[in-house]
Amino acid sequence: MTGIARALALTTALVTVPLLAHAESWTLSNDDSRVAFGSVKKNTVGEVHGFTGLSGSVDASGKVMVEIDLTSVETNIDIRNARMVEHVFGKDNPTATLTAQLDAKALGKMKPGDTASVDVEGTLAIAGKDVAVETTMFVARLTDGRAMVTTDGMIMLSMADLGFTGGIDKLMEIAKLPGITQVSPVTMRLIFDRDTGEAKASGAKKAVEEAPKEEAVKVAAASTGDVKKGKKVFKKCKACHVVNKEKNRVGPHLVNIVGRTAGSVEGFKYSKAMAGAGLDWTVENLSAYLAKPKDFLPGNKMAFAGLRKESQIADVIAYLESEAK
Ligand code: HEC
Repeated sequence: MTGIARALALTTALVTVPLLAHAESWTLSNDDSRVAFGSVKKNTVGEVHGFTGLSGSVDASGKVMVEIDLTSVETNIDIRNARMVEHVFGKDNPTATLTAQLDAKALGKMKPGDTASVDVEGTLAIAGKDVAVETTMFVARLTDGRAMVTTDGMIMLSMADLGFTGGIDKLMEIAKLPGITQVSPVTMRLIFDRDTGEAKASGAKKAVEEAPKEEAVKVAAASTGDVKKGKKVFKKCKACHVVNKEKNRVGPHLVNIVGRTAGSVEGFKYSKAMAGAGLDWTVENLSAYLAKPKDFLPGNKMAFAGLRKESQIADVIAYLESEAK
């Protein structure tokens, strides 16, 4: 190495190391975060709803990404959840993604107990549309490893901007309502945990795992799943399925589903594809179906994009098995 090259290498090392040491990345805690939205029907009944499936991160450059699983909508009325997914959000767009840029340097300087109001310009990608979102967010560094970002006021989303007007008209028609909200107030409480070196590595691994897979995901025996976690995952299914009673909703009941023959619930109107599938719901078949319902059984009518993580699939199957009669 020549003297100059060595000097250059040394300078780069000096410059990059401290930068890297200060760069912080964060991962959203689903359990502690909440995205809520309001609606008013018949001009008089105000209600607050939310989404339970949230994930996200803030990378070292301050880029924020929050993914909202729209099929996890919770309005406290199952049939309404299902109708919202089916008619308003649309079956083909199961996630909304909010991206924004924060000043990583300024935020990195915040100490536990510090708070700040920041103006954020972001983009909400939802139902095939990109909607600009401008708002003030309130940031609090709770502890060294935890930060909270909340809406300072509310974000007002126009249903027309989101292209939801047609779906809402459909809901009004089904529910025989004279009027449902055309502008919805949205609030967010996002709790982020700072990635430690280790978490960062597994965070990267998670990102790889979360990337859509081409082949069906293979999952080991259901017993490897976690029943408690599976119960949470099942929230994504609850709008359409009951597991502890032989009661059909948008989808057939799932009592004793592991081992059951596909398309066999009497009185449920299956698609031709499901009715004629001629297969049993072994753990393996269930795993493949839940990863990519449309690919596993083309033509089936379950309006669900699929679970992206193998662990979620194993967990939900373990939960379904634990509820078997
Ligand atoms: C938006 C509604 C909806 C959601 C959400 C949904 N499903 Fe379904 N599911 C259906 C419908 C409708 C069918 C029937 C499909 C057909 O006949 O083609 C179905 C079928 C099934 C079947 C086959 C049942 C049988 O009798 O053969 C299984 C298993 C299943 N769903 C599991 C799940 C699980 C687990 C989840 C959550 C991870 C889920 N579904 C989420 C609507 C839904």
